[in-house]
Amino acid sequence: MNRKYRKTIIAGNWKMNKLPSEVKDFALALKETQRPKWCETVVCVPFVMLPAAIRAFRDARIAVGAQDVSAHEKGAYTGEVSAAMLKDLGVKYVIIGHSERRAYHGETDSDVAEKIKAALSCSLRPIVCVGESLQQRESGITDEWISMQVKLAIEDLSAEEMKKTVIAYEPIWAIGTGKTATAGQAGAVCALIRSVIRATYGARVARAIPILYGGSMNPSNASELLAQPDVDGGLIGGSSLKPGDFASIIGASDQ
Ligand code: PGA
Repeated sequence: MNRKYRKTIIAGNWKMNKLPSEVKDFALALKETQRPKWCETVVCVPFVMLPAAIRAFRDARIAVGAQDVSAHEKGAYTGEVSAAMLKDLGVKYVIIGHSERRAYHGETDSDVAEKIKAALSCSLRPIVCVGESLQQRESGITDEWISMQVKLAIEDLSAEEMKKTVIAYEPIWAIGTGKTATAGQAGAVCALIRSVIRATYGARVARAIPILYGGSMNPSNASELLAQPDVDGGLIGGSSLKPGDFASIIGASDQ
């Protein structure tokens, strides 16, 4: 982390877990925990839980995020949810391009780029996910792959739009597997992502962008991962489902 230049963000990704009726108790438990003031806490919940989450977290300095958004503004797109709808509810963040959506819903790099634009046009902060497969890592093409994913995601953004964007490095082999990237691996790829941003937008913009690590981050490894200078926070799946675990990860950012 480098708190001089950018905010620390700890974002939970509930994926397709919990029920709307369980949101309130989670929020009450999390609100009771001590959280460092400068750490931005975000909870990204399924669409149907957004209203309950916004109500429950309102007075707690905890922002609510969605897990996807339509690339389209409005119209005949049955089942889709637009950025304007999310904004109107009070949503602040949206995860875009998670590897599960890329794998199971055929989301492409150009879909990801369009969704980022749609989110930004309604003042939602996108958390853009990139990450390599185990095969790509073992073939030694992680850097090329990540650079390409980042470039394709941000190529249409103005510097102002870039500044509002968050990137999450999530190696696919580490998601939900209990296998975490080492702090060194996570730090190196996050530094690479910053260098890709720097090449287009310059050093001032690049050093202001929060870059998160995600993939089996938990209370025991969070501190070491967050100590890396280019790791500015975490996108946390499994360990965000229990208020105690999530709170310890937030606490680990106090360093
Ligand atoms: P995990 O998920 O923490 O359960 O590995 C992270 C994510 O997919 O965002």
